[in-house]
Amino acid sequence: MAAKIIDGKAIADTIRGEVRKASDLLKSSKGITPGLAFILVGENPASQAYVRMKGKGCEEAGFFSITDRLPESVSEGELLELIRRFNLDPRIHGILVQLPLPAHIREERVIRAIDFKKDVDGFHPINVGLLVIGRPCLKPCTPLGIQELLLRSGIETLGRHVVVIGRSNIVGKPMTNLLVQKGKGANAVVTVVHSAAGDLSRFTLQADILIAAMGKPHFVKAAMVKEGATVIDVGINRVADAGAKSGYRLVGDVDYEAVLPKAGHITPVPGGVGPMTIAMLLSNTLSAAAGTVYSD
Ligand code: GUN
Repeated sequence: MAAKIIDGKAIADTIRGEVRKASDLLKSSKGITPGLAFILVGENPASQAYVRMKGKGCEEAGFFSITDRLPESVSEGELLELIRRFNLDPRIHGILVQLPLPAHIREERVIRAIDFKKDVDGFHPINVGLLVIGRPCLKPCTPLGIQELLLRSGIETLGRHVVVIGRSNIVGKPMTNLLVQKGKGANAVVTVVHSAAGDLSRFTLQADILIAAMGKPHFVKAAMVKEGATVIDVGINRVADAGAKSGYRLVGDVDYEAVLPKAGHITPVPGGVGPMTIAMLLSNTLSAAAGTVYSD
C-alpha cells in the first residue's frame, strides 16, 4: 500500500493562521507587535531565498520585520555590533542570523552574542542547555516543526524507535534532545547515526520513525526503510535540472519515489518539513514577543 503523504504545507498554513490570530490579539490587548530582525551575510542564493520566504511569513503574520543585508566582506566585529543593537531594540523580539556564515566569521561567537531571549533559532548555548535538561526555552525551528508534524498527523512517538540520520547542531542533535524528553510528542527511544556509523541499514531498518537530515540527495533507499515506517525528509538539495527554468530542482535526502510504496507515512520535498520550519519561526517569535517562554 502506498504511504500516506504528510502535507507539511497544509499543516504549516494552519499554524500560521493560529499565529496570525494570536499576534492580532497580542496587538489589540497589550499593544505589542512581534518584531523579527533578519541578518543575511553575503550572496548565497539558497540563504537569500530562505530569508525572503521567512520575511514574507512575518508580513502575513502581521509582524514587524527588518532585513539587514551585509556584504560577504563584513567583519565579525561589525556583525556583532549589529546584533548588540538589535538586542537593545525594544521593537525586536527575535534575531535570526542566516547560516552558513563566511569562513572568516566565527559562527559560535555570533550565536552567543544574541540575547538568548531573542534567539528564535534556539541555537544559543543557554537554549541548547535548557533543551537538554528539559526546561522551557526557545527551540530550533526545524526539529520543533517535525515534532509538530508528527503530533498533528497523529503519529505516536511514545515508546517508538526514532532513528535520526545526521548530527548537525541545527537539526540532528536538537531533534534527538526534543524526542527523548518526557511529555507529549516525545518519550521516544532515539538513535542518532552519522557519517562515522558505516553501513546505516542495520540501524535504519529498526526505525519506526526515520528522520533523514544529512544533506545528501536521495541517500535513503527503499532497502534502508522498514515496511510501514514513518519517513521524515529534512533535506533540501539543489540538483541540476536542464529542464527547469531555474536550472535546478529541489530534492530531499530520501529517494522519495522508491520509498513511497514501502513507508507508512512520508513527507515530500518540497512541501513537507520546509514550510514547518517557517511556521515554527513565526510561533517562536510570537512567544518571544508575548514573553511566555521564560518564567523570570
Ligand atoms: N540555515 C539553515 N537552516 C537554518 C536555520 O534554521 N536557521 C538559520 N539561522 N540558518 C539556517
